[in-house]
Amino acid sequence: MKKILFVLVVLAALGLAACGGGNAVATVAPVPAEYAGAKSPLGADASTAGAEVFKTNCETCHGPQGHGDGPAGVALDPQPKNLAVFAPTVGDDYLYWRVNTGKEGTSMVAWKGVLTDEQIWQVIAFVRTLK
Ligand code: HEC
Repeated sequence: MKKILFVLVVLAALGLAACGGGNAVATVAPVPAEYAGAKSPLGADASTAGAEVFKTNCETCHGPQGHGDGPAGVALDPQPKNLAVFAPTVGDDYLYWRVNTGKEGTSMVAWKGVLTDEQIWQVIAFVRTLK
């Protein structure tokens, strides 16, 4: 079931890309210039430290596997996204932007200043490992 969902999300993303972007039904906001193209300065092994960052700061809402099923997330509207499904559809710069600045109109807060820049990239590396 999860696999099918994932395939659907990928197909939807490809479909949007095929429409040439822009006026197609955009599912995610464009990354602001300040964050666009941001790349992790860390290696893939950063996910080990990122797992700790996630456990401490994100798991209560997003759940241990990032499936959006953490105990504090259940009552939220909107509920936290399933990051295992969502993250593969966006670039690192998108994740970096959202984790830094949060998401307006949701309970996703800005982590800039709470986490160091290194911790933010570490947690993104961990989010990339979620299945
Ligand atoms: C208080 C609960 C809460 C915590 C803690 C939290 N999040 Fe979120 N997160 C949310 C909600 C709610 C959304 C919005 C879901 C939506 O818009 O569909 C979200 C969205 C996101 C998104 C996707 C943004 C988008 O465009 O939809 C990412 C990536 C993310 N969170 C990562 C993290 C990371 C990494 C941490 C820990 C550093 C974290 N979150 C901590 C509640 C939380």
